[in-house]
Amino acid sequence: QDNWVDALAAEDLPSDDVMGLVVAGRDIAIYTVGAAVYATDNICTHGQARLCDGFLEGHEIECPLHQGKFDVRSGQPTCEPVSEALRSYPVKVEGRRVYLRID
Ligand code: FES
Repeated sequence: QDNWVDALAAEDLPSDDVMGLVVAGRDIAIYTVGAAVYATDNICTHGQARLCDGFLEGHEIECPLHQGKFDVRSGQPTCEPVSEALRSYPVKVEGRRVYLRID
């Protein structure tokens, strides 16, 4: 329940964009939408594409390979051809650091 992992400095977050980052050995996509920060697995559930190479619009990330989409808040698929959710991770910003909870 307490597996918060220090992921990056808040000042290194992108601005209304996505970035890829390895956290605790996992390939993670970090998203910012306004002041909110979200995190999911970075590899698409449909194929071998990294979502950090895709396009973030509002709360949706579009996969660069076949243009499937996910809601970055939940990891749920929102557009075909993706049908399987991405794992999403709780995020907290404390002081100047960003933490992800990885159980
Ligand atoms: Fe992402 Fe196909 S690999 S939609």
